[in-house]
Amino acid sequence: MPVISAPHSFNEGQLYVDLQPILGRSLYLKCEGFNFAGSIKLKAAIEMVESAERDGLLTKDSVLIESSSGNLGVALSVIAASKGYRFLCVTDSRCNLSTRLLMEALGSEVHVIADLDANGGFLGARIDYVRALCASDERYVWLSQYTNPGNWQAHYRKTAPEIAEQFPQLDVLFVGAGTTGTLMGCARYFREWHRPVRIVAVDTVGSVAFGGTPGRRMIPGLGMSMRPPLLDESYVDEVIQVEEADTIRACHRLARRGFLFGGSTGTVVSGASGWLDRHGSPDLTAVAIAPDLGERYLDTIYQQTWLEDLYGDRVLHGDDDEREEADDGARDSEEVTAGSAGAERASHSGEHRHRRGSRS
Ligand SMILES: Cc1ncc(COP(=O)(O)O)c(C=O)c1O
Repeated sequence: MPVISAPHSFNEGQLYVDLQPILGRSLYLKCEGFNFAGSIKLKAAIEMVESAERDGLLTKDSVLIESSSGNLGVALSVIAASKGYRFLCVTDSRCNLSTRLLMEALGSEVHVIADLDANGGFLGARIDYVRALCASDERYVWLSQYTNPGNWQAHYRKTAPEIAEQFPQLDVLFVGAGTTGTLMGCARYFREWHRPVRIVAVDTVGSVAFGGTPGRRMIPGLGMSMRPPLLDESYVDEVIQVEEADTIRACHRLARRGFLFGGSTGTVVSGASGWLDRHGSPDLTAVAIAPDLGERYLDTIYQQTWLEDLYGDRVLHGDDDEREEADDGARDSEEVTAGSAGAERASHSGEHRHRRGSRS
């Protein structure tokens, strides 16, 4: 029986959903949403705050400040409230209302940036705003998740060993890329492991994290409007980019089976499922990471008007064929082999771009 006195002391690290019955192929989804911050960002937040404490950067007058699309902001709000620090989150208009309210309920101050930067994202504008505040008052302590090594070290120390413990025969790991803290921590850990693991980064179309053309991105969490400073592509075997419409279809497909996940989980599952269609064999051990749960997205990804306004009224229709196909696959998994119906589906949509990293 876990009994805790600080909210960040509890974090479920050993829960996986077997997606075989839903996707018709084996994929284990590591659930990172079961903690008091509701997301994987709790790990990075703890690591960064505690390393700032160790370095003597935080005093009782300090005001933590961070640019976040939401989840790190919530995690820092939880930790700041627990440890007695003030926290100011600089976010942007893509941040879900419930996420903002959550941070405020935890006692944090939230500033919302509404102007896009030159790359068509908000990141540059958010960072400029944080820099200006830090220059104006020395009490501000910016943890800077984009550059702070504690961000990837958290996953090197916790997320990756948790996966390794449960899947000693792991073959392929799918990790969504935002700051690339999760990706780099896991990739570095598995590079040193007892067997090779294929590391597949999953990004959003419109993100420039791995190069490519900037474009509209409405779902927070994954994707960047600049190259992530933490990213070292020599650790990444492959990059997949997923259209937001595919993300939404994957989220709804999981929700119809009772699993309400956040947007980035839809992206990772869509990317992983397409990859397994093309490359998978039934005995491949594949794991994907689900960074959060779906309740924060009820007024966006799970709301009909929002979906229709942004993606058109047919956005969910393409999924019906997929669902039938998956159900057939689940009934007769021998039919699901690399390159057959799945590969056709991927090329139909034309929406998954993949590329070999320097390791392959
Ligand atoms: C929901 C969600 N998914 C994925 C990510 C990306 O994780 P990372 O920043 O470690 O790349 C984030 C980061 O904030 C997130 O909030």
